[in-house]
Amino acid sequence: MTTDRGQWSSKLGFIFAAAGSAIGLGNIWRFPYIAGENGGAAFVFTYLVCVIAIGLPVMLAELALGRATQRNPVGAIEAVRPGSVWKFVGILGVLTGVAILSYYAVIAGWTIGYMISSALGKPIDFGAFVSNPVAMIFYQALFLLLTIAVVSGGVEGGIERWAKILMPMLLILLVILIIRSLTLDGAMRGLEFYLKPDFSKLNYNVIISALGQAFFSLSLGMGTMMTYGSYLKKEDNAVSSGFQVAIFDTLIAFMAGLLIFPALFAVGKDPAAGPGLVFQILPDIFKALPLGNLFGALFFLLLAVAALTSTISLLEVPVAYFVDEKRWTRKKAVWTVGIATFVVGIPSALSLGASPFFSGIQIGFLNKTGFLDIMDFIWGNFSLAFGALLLSIFVGWIWGADRALAELRQGAGDFSWQGEGWKWLIKIVCPVVIFVILLNLFI
Ligand code: PHE
Repeated sequence: MTTDRGQWSSKLGFIFAAAGSAIGLGNIWRFPYIAGENGGAAFVFTYLVCVIAIGLPVMLAELALGRATQRNPVGAIEAVRPGSVWKFVGILGVLTGVAILSYYAVIAGWTIGYMISSALGKPIDFGAFVSNPVAMIFYQALFLLLTIAVVSGGVEGGIERWAKILMPMLLILLVILIIRSLTLDGAMRGLEFYLKPDFSKLNYNVIISALGQAFFSLSLGMGTMMTYGSYLKKEDNAVSSGFQVAIFDTLIAFMAGLLIFPALFAVGKDPAAGPGLVFQILPDIFKALPLGNLFGALFFLLLAVAALTSTISLLEVPVAYFVDEKRWTRKKAVWTVGIATFVVGIPSALSLGASPFFSGIQIGFLNKTGFLDIMDFIWGNFSLAFGALLLSIFVGWIWGADRALAELRQGAGDFSWQGEGWKWLIKIVCPVVIFVILLNLFI
């Protein structure tokens, strides 16, 4: 084992870090805007089904493989099947990490811009902000630098310490803001849109978006949870940890919806406004609060931290790969990958108005416009789902569900009949369902 690895100092350390990875812009930025685009409650319902039936089993599969091999995704697969093509599942994960991080850092940068503007009491005009190329690239770079700084610190020093203090604060602030949002005039129509399913709105787009959102939000399909699982000790209970992470993550996403939709309908904005949705609506909520600027600044600060614990995990996958497999020092890996990510992210940063070309490119049949939105679909949706498909086949059939289950049972106490159920889910249900959904994309 290389010396630049590490281990969580406690089981709680893992839960906070894994929950920190899962909880991020995916919950507070992506979930509401994707739900808004896909008709509200019918999407929310489909999303919950995807989390329980597909996301959770894949989460356990990743944790099992990571802990059993104590390696990054590529190394883990190599350890089980040396010299096989399966290695490319790991490589795909490394690439996906860089690609997602490239545009994630752009949105994360917005949170810093908004935090500063709230603190100064100078409201941002969303459209002008995102079409300002200098601001976009500045904040994107700043956020990547923050990520690089933490990831260079290594597992225990960097990641754990932050997540432990700030995640609980985010939860408390969300509760306060939800109460305000729900008590705005006209909030109930938003609640209805969000929670009362109209299943006639269910269509293929809703289903693939819900599946992709489940993977994105739980940080699955690219080996993040595998990498984090590789820092778990054998006596830790991977099963209950995995469940807790999924529950926290779903709770925060659900709360974000409770925050956004009532306010959205109260001020009469369009739920299908796309990636800018949350940033356009939040200032309205703060305006309706006493000390609104203070709340705003605090909220964007915590959102930035939630995003940071996610970008850390996105960067950690490629970094763990270069440290383990290519024997790079952690520092070299972090800086090389970080700079490459910055360059890849520039078109995304310019795609909300700054560059007409990157803002206007389209994939017609997917209804996606703009480089960032397209990147998000390809990497944050398709690639994660594809990775999860291959991983479930790999763990269920190649490594073997029995071996994976034996690994999960170590430290998990009673996981007897549930374990049998898990085997069935990972071998049959996950591969078949994901495959069918992805196949439809090409028809
Ligand atoms: N789960 C993170 C979020 O919700 C994003 C992420 C995706 C992180 C994939 C790591 C891997 O913001």
